[in-house]
Amino acid sequence: MNASPDPVSVRVGLLGCGHVGAALAALVAERRSEVARRRGLDLEVTRIAVRNTAIDRDVPVADDAFTTDAAAVVSDPDVDVVVEVMGGIEPARELVSTALAAGKPVVTANKELLANHGAELYALAEANGVDLLFEAAVAGAIPIMRPLRESLAAEPITRVMGIVNGTTNFILTRMADDGASYGDALAEAQGLGYAERDPTADVEGYDAGAKAAIMATVAFGARVVAGDVYHEGISGITVADIEFAADLKHCIKLLAVAEQTVADDGQAQVGVRVHPTLVPLDHPLASVNGSFNAVFVEGGAAGDLMLYGRGAGGRPTASAVLGDLVDAAGNLARGHGATIGTLERARIAPIDDVVSAYYLNVEVDDRPGVLAAVAAVFGEHGVSIRSMEQEGMGSEARLVFITHGARERDLRATLHDLRSLDAVRAVGSVLRVIGD
Ligand SMILES: NC(=O)c1ccc[n+]([C@@H]2O[C@H](COP(=O)([O-])OP(=O)(O)OC[C@H]3O[C@@H](n4cnc5c(N)ncnc54)[C@H](OP(=O)(O)O)[C@@H]3O)[C@@H](O)[C@H]2O)c1
Repeated sequence: MNASPDPVSVRVGLLGCGHVGAALAALVAERRSEVARRRGLDLEVTRIAVRNTAIDRDVPVADDAFTTDAAAVVSDPDVDVVVEVMGGIEPARELVSTALAAGKPVVTANKELLANHGAELYALAEANGVDLLFEAAVAGAIPIMRPLRESLAAEPITRVMGIVNGTTNFILTRMADDGASYGDALAEAQGLGYAERDPTADVEGYDAGAKAAIMATVAFGARVVAGDVYHEGISGITVADIEFAADLKHCIKLLAVAEQTVADDGQAQVGVRVHPTLVPLDHPLASVNGSFNAVFVEGGAAGDLMLYGRGAGGRPTASAVLGDLVDAAGNLARGHGATIGTLERARIAPIDDVVSAYYLNVEVDDRPGVLAAVAAVFGEHGVSIRSMEQEGMGSEARLVFITHGARERDLRATLHDLRSLDAVRAVGSVLRVIGD
């Protein structure tokens, strides 16, 4: 079916031509006639800003499209829509703001920018009636922003959980499947180009945290920023933890969790956190392995939903950017934008108030009365034990617990008192568990 006999010309200014930008320029050219046929839009990348114009980029655009003057791309009257795929906060923030203020729709893949300055940019888009779309900023190719913003806009979402960092998922999968140590799995991820030379942003959960802030903002319609997110990374996870988890029919995943709960005063609050988590093997997130991503949404009416796919890579990410670009171009052609509006600041749940089940691994003396003493400490703080197993004997003895849902502050008090028991040699890993 031909949506329009004369496709509307939409000229695209690209800020950045790296992994994502170059793949996008190629994809726009490849899909041009199909987009024109199906959506009545003739998309063309006309200007591209880069740092270094001397690099031979092999992208299907005219040589004179390239410039180092990104501001000139934004202000060019021959650019209708701006795509920001340069990354980082400045000058991306300034350029995106200028485009929106000039009434030009913007598509971005920049999680760092949105997790720190999203609210001011959404407000600017709203004030100017233009799109600011960012599907690729969370979980790469997986379409999760649009479903959260549109299909699930009226759904009472209670929780969104994502495996949104492919590097850490690759490392944890290698440790689980092949018994690789954390260090060896990280080195392999670096060798394959999944992990940066400085892997801190991935392994300590900052990358996933920025995505969690964006997911929380869109899922709950309230402003959450990167600084609101509680982080724990995977660098302390051992093969022994993974084996203990497997004995308990769980695997370990780094999850980004955004949930809406009710505070003691009856007001809604949003909890946002990233941490390694024991996931039951029969939970859909347990089957997400290697560098793949998935986002699991718990809805009050819809029930559970999961989207799965590639969370990174130039072409998969460019696919999500192109989807946004087609939407933004279509809205521009029709003369309206689809923004998420001006958002109130979310009330953030303190981590101490968060309720979760926990896995604890406690090294103890192997003698009578120890189990009773340890169990009594849990009881004193109102932390109820769901399951307990004893592993090893003598100086190797340890007790592995999974608790029922407990408040973080009660769990911390339990840990404090366990550490002061004579019979407890050490408290090893303490990890949250989903599925209680
Ligand atoms: N790569 C992925 O798999 C992926 C997945 C999801 C989201 N993203 C997001 O997509 C964005 C782009 O990622 P990427 O991997 O494509 O990055 P990249 O390969 O490093 O490319 C960045 C591009 O931006 C250009 N650039 C940077 N600063 C500039 C400036 N001040 N003026 C003009 N040009 C500038 C660079 O120019 P030169 O080429 O001349 O250096 C380069 O072409 C980031 O926000 C990232 O978080 C990436």
